[in-house]
Amino acid sequence: MNLASSATSAGVAGPNWVLVVAAALVSGLLLAGPALRRRYPVTWWLLLGYPATALRVVRTWRPLMAGCGLAVSRRPALTVVSGLVGNGAPPPQPRLPRRGLIRPTSSGFVLLVRLLPGQVPEDFVKAAPAMAESWQVHAVRATSWRPGVVRVVASAADPLAAPRVPKQRGPGHLLRVTVGALETGATWVLDLRRVPHWLIVGATRSGKSTLINAIVAGLAPQPVALVGIDCKGGMELSLYEPRLSALATNREQAVRLLAALVDLTLNRMTVCREARVRNIWGLPDKERPIPIVVIVDEIAELFLVASRNEKDEAQAAGTALIRLAQLGAALGVFLVVAGQRVGSDLGPGVTALRAQLGGRVCHRVADPGTAEMALGDLNPDALKAAQAITPEQAGTAVLASGDGWERARSHLITESEAEAVAVEYAHLTPVLSELHVEAP
Ligand SMILES: Nc1ncnc2c1ncn2[C@@H]1O[C@H](COP(=O)(O)OP(=O)(O)OP(=O)(O)O)[C@@H](O)[C@H]1O
Ligand SMILES: [Mg+2]
Repeated sequence: MNLASSATSAGVAGPNWVLVVAAALVSGLLLAGPALRRRYPVTWWLLLGYPATALRVVRTWRPLMAGCGLAVSRRPALTVVSGLVGNGAPPPQPRLPRRGLIRPTSSGFVLLVRLLPGQVPEDFVKAAPAMAESWQVHAVRATSWRPGVVRVVASAADPLAAPRVPKQRGPGHLLRVTVGALETGATWVLDLRRVPHWLIVGATRSGKSTLINAIVAGLAPQPVALVGIDCKGGMELSLYEPRLSALATNREQAVRLLAALVDLTLNRMTVCREARVRNIWGLPDKERPIPIVVIVDEIAELFLVASRNEKDEAQAAGTALIRLAQLGAALGVFLVVAGQRVGSDLGPGVTALRAQLGGRVCHRVADPGTAEMALGDLNPDALKAAQAITPEQAGTAVLASGDGWERARSHLITESEAEAVAVEYAHLTPVLSELHVEAP
């Protein structure tokens, strides 16, 4: 008898204790919430932020889909029949796109949604701002995942406000550099072997040179030659002089340097043809010429002209750059071109050059036209995202290449860090005598 009653009381006390402990844990978490959020944002998100947001997604799914016109009504006939048969019962609810699991990520969540017949991924792209508002998150992006399914990615807070960017250590993969952080929390990796030529645009003090610093700092430990063209008198790139195989600081030098680069590229072409390979990567290791990354800071300085003589120079520079872009990828010559504007007002060559630079990075811009020039042929969403970057977010950019677009922010590499990197790796600077173009 005694035994039975004590067993019963233990059975009752058990769940009570669990409840008390759970309540204590939850209230502790809520009290410590703000401090936890500041110090351990990922833990805060997984323990508190995510469960609350996931609940919000579940609760708002039906009204949200209906409000955004993404719910599809049942056939009217079915509604009428249900009214007749159901004796005044409410008509069947509209069909909703089916939502998969709400999977947490370190800074938000991801969910897959199955489209209803007649829907396209763009319908969800349009609804993304409304989703962000309803779920009280920083941003929502919808992309096509596979036919019939969209992937909805939400970020709880702006991950680029204070990105945690693990810097690249050591040389890493050839021609691949970690330059910052992506909005998804992943690292922003610039891979020149995948996308060989890049255009970096942005208003003054938007972060172009800082990104170039990050690219050069990442490439400096690698077996590559770096060539600089900085017609602002070398103000930006001369920091790297010890690691540069050549540096042009005015247009006259730039034209000669670019002509020498075109000659070098054509020589490489002959080598490849004789070896019957399609690019330098097909050559045996010992015979492969060293990859060359040509960095142009402020393209406008090359193209803007005041006199007739300058016009010829500008044209020569433009033609050489276009040739390098066309031939370079296969022959190990890569271009990274930065400028405030890349419009046709700079000259006829600029549009042709822009078309050759497949990788695009658009920082804060002064006018919508510049964003359109950099990202125009891509999703209009990318344009909006680029125009929303504020001056306080220097270094934040929208990146686009063939595969879509993303927001990202570069590492802040200071001038003294840049100088230190150049000195540290100065011994790796390849000597390319054919590029020595000082005035005769
Ligand atoms: N990734 C970043 N994170 C934080 N701050 C940044 C970042 N990038 C740039 N900045 C800030 O913005 C300032 C200007 O950047 P930067 O010199 O790269 O601009 P720019 O686009 O090259 O300008 P300009 O056209 O005048 O040469 C930097 O001195 C730095 O303070
Ligand atoms: Mg600059």
